[in-house]
Amino acid sequence: MKFFVDTANVEQIKEIHEMGVLAGVTTNPSLVAKEGVDFHERIKEICAITDTPVSAEVISLEAEGMIAEGKELAKIAPNVVIKVPVTADGLKAVSEFTKLGIKTNVTLVFSSMQALLAARAGATYVSPFLGRLDDIGHNGMELIKQIADIFAIHDIPTEIIAASVRHPIHAIDAALHGAHISTIPASVIKQFLNHPLTDQGIEKFMADWANASK
Ligand code: E4P
Repeated sequence: MKFFVDTANVEQIKEIHEMGVLAGVTTNPSLVAKEGVDFHERIKEICAITDTPVSAEVISLEAEGMIAEGKELAKIAPNVVIKVPVTADGLKAVSEFTKLGIKTNVTLVFSSMQALLAARAGATYVSPFLGRLDDIGHNGMELIKQIADIFAIHDIPTEIIAASVRHPIHAIDAALHGAHISTIPASVIKQFLNHPLTDQGIEKFMADWANASK
């Protein structure tokens, strides 16, 4: 499983990129709005940090508008991926982007048939939202497993991005259940590194080293 960072904050993207683990970036309208910056400018700034896939979401709800927006976004850099909601118009836009050779990430996926439809329309990625399903008492992880099984049985190349990942257990289970990618807030990626035995071990090595050099 690869790690994407789920943010539009350039400092956070740089931090994960410098760790050498960044395989992509996902943004959404809420994450961009939080930054209070120009959307296209921000996508350009992100693409200057990384040449990994950077998802930029369309705002239009009709296919024609999505296609027009996506074409403009795709001009920003070759690694821009157009993020489209899983609606009938969204799939129409995805099939057009596929014909044009523009990569897509179909978002707001909450069922395996939504994921299969997106894949059949040519989606490069599908994004099932784990945390939001868990929030309403459904099993987000079961959805990841179903999609992974269906894609494997039917030899479907669309990659699964486990999204709405809120904590380390979500990421561990997503990896175990066959997600190709998890898109994760930078703060959660950094949480993966925390272990009291690592901290204690470093402290002990440093203390022993200091004593030996006296
Ligand atoms: C994914 O592409 C979305 O940006 C994101 O994972 C949504 O997460 P949330 O449910 O925590 O807002």
